[in-house]
Amino acid sequence: MLKLSDIKSSEEDLQDYYAQLRSQHVAPAWIGGGISLEPKSKAVPHVWHWRDLRPQAMRAAQLVGTEQAERRVLRLTNPELPGVSASNTLVANIQIVMPGEIARAHRHSALALRLIIEGTGGYTVVNGDRIPMAPGDLVLTPNWTWHDHANDTDAPMIWLDGLDTPLVRMLEAGFYEEYYKETQTVGAGADPSFVKYGDGGLRPAWEPAPAAPYSPLWHYPMSQARDTLERLAAEHPGSPFDGVILEYTNPLTGGPAMPTIACYIQRLRPGERTQAYRHVCCTNYHVIEGSGHSVVGGQRLDWEDKDVFTVPTWTFREHVNSGDRPAFLFSFTDKPVMRALDLYREETKAV
Ligand SMILES: [Fe+2]
Repeated sequence: MLKLSDIKSSEEDLQDYYAQLRSQHVAPAWIGGGISLEPKSKAVPHVWHWRDLRPQAMRAAQLVGTEQAERRVLRLTNPELPGVSASNTLVANIQIVMPGEIARAHRHSALALRLIIEGTGGYTVVNGDRIPMAPGDLVLTPNWTWHDHANDTDAPMIWLDGLDTPLVRMLEAGFYEEYYKETQTVGAGADPSFVKYGDGGLRPAWEPAPAAPYSPLWHYPMSQARDTLERLAAEHPGSPFDGVILEYTNPLTGGPAMPTIACYIQRLRPGERTQAYRHVCCTNYHVIEGSGHSVVGGQRLDWEDKDVFTVPTWTFREHVNSGDRPAFLFSFTDKPVMRALDLYREETKAV
């Protein structure tokens, strides 16, 4: 009969064996490190308040130039993660470009998004396309696209940077390259990717669809997202878990805007309280406008305009708009990675 084997060894024999293994850089898998039944993030729920972040961004602009800093960026660091990121796979950083400044051109394997927080009229150049930036706008700089930033206005430009740097680093897949000059030559057109692909359902038919694995649309204006959200909210209750929520899609595929990051914008009605859910992906939120709180893993995170908060993987979250105006939350997650690897799950909380 087949059965589990029962072998009693002396502690001395075991320790001697383990010492031999260690010297050969081999480890027995049956000691140390228990089995975990479900994901348990090292990251913790956390909120960074704009009232704290903005003065420090302005202070950085006094202390360091864009000659000294490749990017003048403040990294939001999760209190319990050993690295310098807001969440396990995705960073959420604050970048400031002052009037008259440029941030020089470079490209890297990690892909990036910008969600504009403050300032109107500065721009990012992505592969020669000049992309205007206004508050609430989403701007993509997909992997390995050249990008530089400039502020030709008389007010600071501040935005949220989201990148998959921790994931790329963990995969040891990162490349980086400086452009041969400080800024790219800007091509024709005021907002070329938006002119071609900003309509979503319509695209230029005289040329083939771009083959790149990311969205050919690199600018998603807040004005357009707001109009769509308002139109939907007038007729639909939306999701019980997220209110009226939209994904920023690749208009060619309907899928996520970039291979590793999915981006969303949601509108919560005044007084709305969503139901709790969790899923296998980490999420960083930015409050475009509004005030309220989210209950994340049993912890209350109060938020208001321009705050940033993070929800670790497999952690229940529910949102409450306690203000008297609609709340607009931008969020980005590593869900496309989890889906591609067939690791994605979601669960609602039993009530
Ligand atoms: Fe960059």
